[in-house]
Amino acid sequence: MSIDTVAVLARVPLLAGFERRDLERLSRQFRERSLREGAVVTSEGESGVGFFVIVEGSANVTVGGQPRGTLGPGDYFGEMALIDEGPRSATVVAAADMRCLALTPWEFRPFVEEHPTVAWAMLQTLARRLREAQA
Ligand code: CMP
Repeated sequence: MSIDTVAVLARVPLLAGFERRDLERLSRQFRERSLREGAVVTSEGESGVGFFVIVEGSANVTVGGQPRGTLGPGDYFGEMALIDEGPRSATVVAAADMRCLALTPWEFRPFVEEHPTVAWAMLQTLARRLREAQA
């Protein structure tokens, strides 16, 4: 069954404050992706072309084989390689069957550039990860 993309996006913390018409426009860009438990969604060191928002399920993040946390509904991942056009910084594996909404790189950049609140939230996350990596 297809999900109500606008309703899902309205509950994503990254998009807090978005007006309904923005959510409707975004909902036409995001594509639904189903991923089976165990699926490797991003592989550290390899290239990748998706930005993902989790709708259902969860995923484990590892860097160098070390656990870096679990992501769940409302969380996003896959932004780093799309920002710097480098390889994936972490491996993300579906810890349960997942449903995600995904953007391609060519949709992701205008999405961030047009929404400063999204850019700021991503900068905060990047700064936090940098500090954690240096600790
Ligand atoms: P990207 O590098 O494109 O692909 C792997 C993704 O895992 C990365 O983007 C982030 O979204 C996410 N990620 C990387 N490092 C961490 C971390 N320390 N904690 C949680 N998520 C991370």
